[in-house]
Parts: sequence; C-alpha cells; structure tokens
Amino acid sequence: MANFIPQELIDRIRDANDVVDVISEYLPLKKRGKNWVGLCPFHPEKKPSFSVSQDKQLFYCFGCGQGGNVVTFLMLHEKVGFFEAITILAKRAGISLPKKSIEKGRLEEVDKIHYANKLANQYFVSSLKEKNLGKKTREYLEKRKVLPESIKLFSIGYAPKSWEGLLNYAKRKGLDLKTLEKAGLVVKKEKKEGYYDRFRDRLTFPIFNLSGKIIGFGGRDLSGKDEPKYLNSPETLIYQKGKILYGLNFSKEIIRGQKKAVVVEGYMDLISLYQAGLKNVVASSGTSFTSHQARLLSRYSDETYLFFDSDSAGMSAALRSVDYLFDAGLEVWIVTLPQEEDPDSYVKKFGVKKVLEKLKEAKSFIDFKKDFLNKDFSQLSIKEQEKIIFEFVETAKNIKDEIRQALFIKKVAEAFKIKEELLLGRAKRTRKEKETEEKVPHLKGKELLEQKLLKIFLEREDLLGLAYEKINPFCFDNPNHKKLFEIIVELWEKKKSFSPKVLVDFTDDFELKRLISKIVTIDLGPANLEVLLEDYLKRLFFIQKEKEIFRLKEEIKNALDGNDFESAKRLTFKLQELIKS
Ligand code: CTP
Ligand code: MN
Repeated sequence: MANFIPQELIDRIRDANDVVDVISEYLPLKKRGKNWVGLCPFHPEKKPSFSVSQDKQLFYCFGCGQGGNVVTFLMLHEKVGFFEAITILAKRAGISLPKKSIEKGRLEEVDKIHYANKLANQYFVSSLKEKNLGKKTREYLEKRKVLPESIKLFSIGYAPKSWEGLLNYAKRKGLDLKTLEKAGLVVKKEKKEGYYDRFRDRLTFPIFNLSGKIIGFGGRDLSGKDEPKYLNSPETLIYQKGKILYGLNFSKEIIRGQKKAVVVEGYMDLISLYQAGLKNVVASSGTSFTSHQARLLSRYSDETYLFFDSDSAGMSAALRSVDYLFDAGLEVWIVTLPQEEDPDSYVKKFGVKKVLEKLKEAKSFIDFKKDFLNKDFSQLSIKEQEKIIFEFVETAKNIKDEIRQALFIKKVAEAFKIKEELLLGRAKRTRKEKETEEKVPHLKGKELLEQKLLKIFLEREDLLGLAYEKINPFCFDNPNHKKLFEIIVELWEKKKSFSPKVLVDFTDDFELKRLISKIVTIDLGPANLEVLLEDYLKRLFFIQKEKEIFRLKEEIKNALDGNDFESAKRLTFKLQELIKS
C-alpha cells in the first residue's frame, strides 16, 4: 500500500472523485433505482450487471464479481497501481500531491513497468533523431512515406544495434534491471549472469493502451534478413496482446463519432491510413481477433470493416475474426483488395479516395464467404454445400443474442435458399450449453449468511459492537469472509470506524476489494437491522452446532472403527452435552 501518501490525503482525493462521475467517463451508466448500472467493462455481457452505488461510492459486477471503489476501478481499468490511480484522481480533482511521494523508487510494480516503457521509448525516439545513429531508419521511414507528423504522433523510434544500449540508459536513469525484465525490454542471459536488450537494430512502434500510455513495443527488422520481421514485447503485467487494439487510443473518438471502425492488420497499415485522413482505424497486429478485442471495439462502434491483406493468411484472419465481432453485436463488412496489396500499399498507390470507394463496396460476411468459394454454390456437391451451411450455423451458434441470431439466420437462409426454421433449429444452442453459460455462482445457505452478517456491519458500524463479543473470525467458513471480518475488527479496534470505501483501500487483496463491494450491494430488505442481526447470529450458532455434531459423529465412528472405545465413550458424552445445550 502506498503509505507514503498520508492517509488523510488519500481520503481527500478519493472523496473528491465521485465514483459515478469517474466511471461514467469510461462507460455509459444509467440510473436504476438507487444505483447506476451499465455493461461491465471487465467481462462480456449483453445485459448490464455492473452496478455502481453512489451512496456507498462502490461498484460491483454481479456477472464477474469485480468490484471496489473509485481507486480500484482505475487500477483495474487502466492497469495501474494504487499510487498511479491516486495520482490520476488527484489530478482530476486538482489536488496536488507532495513532491516526495513521486519518487520513482517507491512506485509499485505496475507503475514501474509503465515507467520502464516510457524510458525505453524516450531512448528509442531520441536514437532515431540522432544524426548518424538514426540515419538509416529515418531514410527507411522516408522511403515508406511515413510523414514526420506521423513519426511524432505514433512515437516511432529506433532501437540501436547494441546489446546494452537500453540497459545502460535505464541504469543511468535509476531503473532497476528486474523491472526492465518484467517490462519485457531486456532478456536474461541463458548461460551467464546479466541481461541484454530485447530490441536491437529495429524500428520501434510503441503500443499504447486506451489512455495513451506505452505498454509495449513492436520492433520491425530493417535489414530484411532478421527473423522475425516483427518482434513484439512479450505479455507483461500491463500488456496482453489479445486485449488491446493498436491505435485505438488515437482513433476512439473518431470511431465513436462515426460508429464505424476500419480494422487492419499491421502497424504500417494503420499509420498510412491515418495520415491519409482515414482516422477511424485500428490494427489487430497480425493476430486474429479475440472476443475481448471485439467487445472493446463494440464500445465505440456499430460497424466494422475488415480491411486485411489480400493474401490467404489475411483472408482467413478475416474469417476467423467474424464470429467474435458478430457476437459483440457488430455489423461486419469485408473489404477485398487486389492480389499483392495491403491497405498500406493500396492507399499509397491509389490515395484515400479509392480506399473509401473500396469501403463502400465492402461485402457482407455472407456474400464474402459465398464469393470466396471457387465455384458457384449450386455447382458444389451436396457434401460441400452442407459443410458451408454448417459453418454458417457455427457462426450463428456463437451469436448469443437471440434476435441478432435470428436476423443473421434469415440472411443465410435467403442467400442459400434454405428453410429458415431448419437453420434456426440447428443453431439453437442446447439447453445445457446455455445454462452453463448463464450460471452465476450461487451461494448456498452458510455462505450467504456470512455475507449478510458482514453486510449488517458494513451498514451499521455500531452493530459490530453488539456482536463483537459473541463471534470470532472462526465463525466464518469462507476464508475471505474470515479475512474481511478480521480487518473490520482491526479497524474497529483502532478507530471505531470502518466505512466500506475506506475498507477497500485498507487491503491490497483484490478479492477482498471485490467481496466488500459485493456485500455492500446485498439487499437485506426493510427489516430492522438489530432484529436481523440477532436472527443471523442465532442461525450462525445453529449451523456451528450442527457442524460440531457432525464432526463429533464422524470422530466417534472413527474411534469405533479403530476399537478405541475409551475415546468413543468420551466423544459420545461430549455429543450428548452439545445436543442438550
Ligand atoms: N506481426 C507480428 N509478428 C510477425 C509478423 C507480423 O506481430 N512476425 C504483426 C505486426 O503487428 C504487423 C502485422 O502483424 O504489423 C501484419 O504483418 P505483415 O502484414 O507481415 O506486416 P506489415 O504490417 O505489412 O508490415 P510491413 O508493411 O512493414 O511489411
Ligand atoms: Mn505492409
């Protein structure tokens, strides 16, 4: 925990940032009853189960269980540490932090990794500018018609041909090697001690997260000989390839405005289109779309244009991406290019106007697939036809929204002249498939009881005083409930106060943060809390007793099995006493 910022200041910063206001900057929230709801940014969903309580200043998702306060939200959403989250919130509220708390030595792990990437980028960018060192790369960029304004905007750089260039630079800036390694910027030597630079003699494209922070790099080989052509940062704490879309930080507002996004494969494709004025573009960076990326895109856009290389790899990447995009509710269009072209080469040869024409001519997924066949559908054998229809059915199966699924099937049926009901029947996922999907972890009696008990304490601190003497952490079976109870008691003993939002910051454990937020959202109904508490305690003791009885019976059985009559007798006596009590 960032205890170098005084707790009072943390409290002040947190209180100055209303949780509903802050979260609304990331996703639309609607008022529903006392709470605000929206689509959870942390897991895929169609119906909102993400709920924010303005009263309690907490958020919680009933679907995936993420939860916490405004600080937690930023930590999760921006993938930053506590300190960084507090810094963002302080800035937002116009509160200044004491200078000494900004010493980098005290940053948390994720923040250090962010810092490492930032340093690396400084180093790469300045290397590109250096007269001799960066010359060849500057020429390469010129040859590929990357404009100076793009070099600047996309922070393109050059990683010099050196084993320890970045390593020494970072050392001079006081960054430790472990962090550089965790950032994926240096690699541990196999046989000897020490590290070496990952990116050497490569053009560098920093990869940004949504808020424009650098989280990794793609490095392009310039010699045309070095494999692989692109070397990328490995997955790190802050960079997960399948979760980001390259360039979205630049294009998101434009995409939001147009409700249309063009998806290309490469860094270069994106930059070329962007500088030519087509700015509603993101790059999948050569992998096929993940469901995460599709959902990310669907937050800004209604339609996607897949604008991939014309080679077969590009086309099959397009086809593989489609299911996720459909499922995320996006309309999918596929743009085809002449052989040997990619968006980058095409826009440079023919200009942006021609690209826009191509987008207008884009085909729907169904037509694209139909045209992709080497023969006319009616000319195919039944077996081949069947295979294609089944592929569409598979796609339809992946569309979870029933209306959207039905509309899609209608189109397939029309295109191939097949009865709609037939396809619909096939595409209905079996009940079982559906159930496992929609199953939300269900709490059985004791679990829920423990949570309700905790909820009472979170609702009315003074009631802990009443229960304090009667229960102890061991009354809680669930280890997290136990932990939470211990923290509550600790705070109560120290300060006689433990409001939920303070509790959330009191622990570093994200599971506990979630639990607190979840418990806060439990609805206890209109009952009098004192009466409820008494009732819950009674039930708790009853369950405790039942459990103890069960345990004793087991022990007696074991003792008898082992012919240990002495123990069996002693235990039976104990059991009778317990039952009487
Ligand atoms: N890619 C990758 N690793 C590779 C090859 C490609 O990560 N070994 C990713 C990169 O993000 C690249 C994208 O896939 O931008 C598309 O690859 P490709 O079409 O081969 O490269 P281009 O983007 O066309 O790059 P260039 O124009 O510089 O050749
Ligand atoms: Mn290319």
